[in-house]
Amino acid sequence: MTDSTPYGELRVNYEGETLDIADVCPAPLAQFESWFEDVLAAKLPEPNAMVIATATKVGQPSARHVLLKQADARGFVFYTNYDSRKGRELQENPKASLVFPWFAMYRQVVVIGRVEKVSREESAEYFATRPHGSRIGASVSHQSEELASREELDARWQSLAERYPDEVPLPDSWGGFVVIPESIEFWAGRRSRLHDRIQYVHGGGVNVSMTDATQWTIRRLSP
Ligand SMILES: Cc1cc2nc3c(=O)[nH]c(=O)nc-3n(C[C@H](O)[C@H](O)[C@H](O)COP(=O)(O)O)c2cc1C
Repeated sequence: MTDSTPYGELRVNYEGETLDIADVCPAPLAQFESWFEDVLAAKLPEPNAMVIATATKVGQPSARHVLLKQADARGFVFYTNYDSRKGRELQENPKASLVFPWFAMYRQVVVIGRVEKVSREESAEYFATRPHGSRIGASVSHQSEELASREELDARWQSLAERYPDEVPLPDSWGGFVVIPESIEFWAGRRSRLHDRIQYVHGGGVNVSMTDATQWTIRRLSP
């Protein structure tokens, strides 16, 4: 990178489809699923990748991508190492924000909410569906800790792969979190930066359900 790197000149004119309160589904899960179908149809790379932002209890944020593995009435589920940086942060400060960055469609979805661990049974059920190498990988990686060398990781992988050629036990430190939304925003990029932003806001007070339209108000935000 040099002083002449043209960050400031990189500019795309967003010409996405319009989005209006009258267009969206009454409950947010159906709206998310409808956009996700569009993303799958458009064959975007890593369609279920999302950024998750977490923070320590004193408010130091950190963010990274994870993969959405389930979206249902409860919220958005992903899997990770509970002892990783994000895992520790989510346990000391159970709040998160998600961003689905669907650039090629001029769309993003932003979720803000609180987080709970999914049950051990649910994590075990999903873990069992992962390829053998990924199950071994989850077992050998002390995610986010300093590692002396690549060789050390490969040696650990090799030794566990020999020890568990078929069934791999679910590591204590590995499992899912569900992000339970208090708001979900659907953003559609439009001409001259006059984007459409339609946000579902939870009324509070009851168990959040992304399928119960009566729990949500829908409003338009300024771009
Ligand atoms: C597209 C993509 C998907 C990823 N999916 C996951 C995931 O589902 N779970 C996970 O723990 N890490 C995933 N990672 C790795 C994380 O971004 C991150 O490096 C790792 O979880 C450690 O993060 P932390 O140290 O902030 O806890 C993914 C990375 C990318 C680029």
